[in-house]
Amino acid sequence: MSIVLIGFMGSGKSTLGKQLSLILSKPFIDLDAYIEADECMTISDIFKLKGESYFREKENLALKKFIHRDIVLSTGGGIIENPNNKTLFLKNKCNFWVDTNFETLYNRIVGDLNRPNAISKSYEELLILYKSRISRYNEIAYIRVDTSQSIQTCCNDIVNKIISDENG
Ligand code: S3P
Repeated sequence: MSIVLIGFMGSGKSTLGKQLSLILSKPFIDLDAYIEADECMTISDIFKLKGESYFREKENLALKKFIHRDIVLSTGGGIIENPNNKTLFLKNKCNFWVDTNFETLYNRIVGDLNRPNAISKSYEELLILYKSRISRYNEIAYIRVDTSQSIQTCCNDIVNKIISDENG
């Protein structure tokens, strides 16, 4: 069973995942980075040259490959767009929703050329996308971790939850 981080673009999943993997001494895999390496292409080029649905299929295969491993796994913000992933997530207990206030998310992703689902969208369009996704993150997550706290506090929240679950 892996410790999976889900959440909107810019929420801090990769930063938190790396820190968590050090604390827990488990390997860290970033699903987007894995797909980029596997395709020898940036996310942006995959969207441009092969399309979003191709990327979503690759993402589903990569999730299937890694979700049962004893690792910390960071996922792309749109992974919940593919309904097939929900079944995989629901079988895995340790899904953590990494989130913060929308203004912070927006400021982190605005103008990022390697985020094709953000680059051409206005503030309002991104807010609609965020709102359309939060119930789905919430549905599959064990707890929500607010990254407006320090990274140490976020890691503690996750580690404490895992420990209390193991003991309960
Ligand atoms: C996407 C989020 C990205 C990446 C792709 C699509 C999305 O991951 O998977 O650009 O649709 O929200 P991050 O959440 O790491 O930016």
